[in-house]
Amino acid sequence: MLHKLIRRKAERQNQSLAERISRSKKECIPSHIAIIMDGNGRWAKKRALPRVAGHHEGMKTVRKITRLANDLGVRALTVYAFSTENWKRPKLEVDFIMRLPEEFLGTYLPELIEQNVKVIMMGENDTLPLYTQNAIRKAMEATKENTGLVLNFALNYGSRAEITQAMQKIAQQVQEGTLTYSDVNEELISQHLMTCDLPEPDLLIRTSGEVRLSNFMLWQLAYTEFWFTDTLWPDFDESCLLDAIDSYQNRNRRYGGLKGEDTN
Ligand code: FPP
Repeated sequence: MLHKLIRRKAERQNQSLAERISRSKKECIPSHIAIIMDGNGRWAKKRALPRVAGHHEGMKTVRKITRLANDLGVRALTVYAFSTENWKRPKLEVDFIMRLPEEFLGTYLPELIEQNVKVIMMGENDTLPLYTQNAIRKAMEATKENTGLVLNFALNYGSRAEITQAMQKIAQQVQEGTLTYSDVNEELISQHLMTCDLPEPDLLIRTSGEVRLSNFMLWQLAYTEFWFTDTLWPDFDESCLLDAIDSYQNRNRRYGGLKGEDTN
């Protein structure tokens, strides 16, 4: 009897999720969603678990959210997995996070391939441990022809370092005479960033109640819609993503201009 009730409740919940998904698909879906996945440590602490248990649970959320984003027709999903500042954390925690791509891709690569997801990475690759580099490289190779969602791991990523590197490359070309200073414009700078092949994010999500950017995609987020939630990343689920997209679909994006009747 209890089993039946639980099953019926689950069916009802699934149904309403399915309804929400189909409603969401009728509206404008963000092309690129960027997520600052925060709150893993607090999730673990609330359960008297070590912080790394929160990261491990957070990894499972990445799987859930990737699947739904792909199903909704989102073109790119960028997840901030490790910042250039995160090296300051205890070695045990850093080592654990560095092993996560291996575990995530070791477990879920077959289903990512089946879902036509393309895996890419942005960040300083060379200073990652070899096992992390190898896991990402293997997944990128195996999914490079896929045409569905682009799952972009921001790993050992820092936006200021990214912009600095772009400036250095441009300055070098000016010095060598292949560019002049008047060629330097916004488009050229965008082309030198690690996101050169992606559309700019339409929607930024940050979980856990923190309201800051933490050196994440500072250039790319100029006209992005922000959505913050108190939900901790391991608790973030399909219904939270639909809440964020629902909010996005009700925004009035003006890019500094005016729209419709406001112009009269
Ligand atoms: C911030 O939470 C989270 C991180 C620094 C790591 C995020 C990594 C994952 C969610 C796993 C990524 C998965 C793959 C596949 C690489 P926090 O530790 O700062 O949380 P707190 O603010 O509660 O302490």
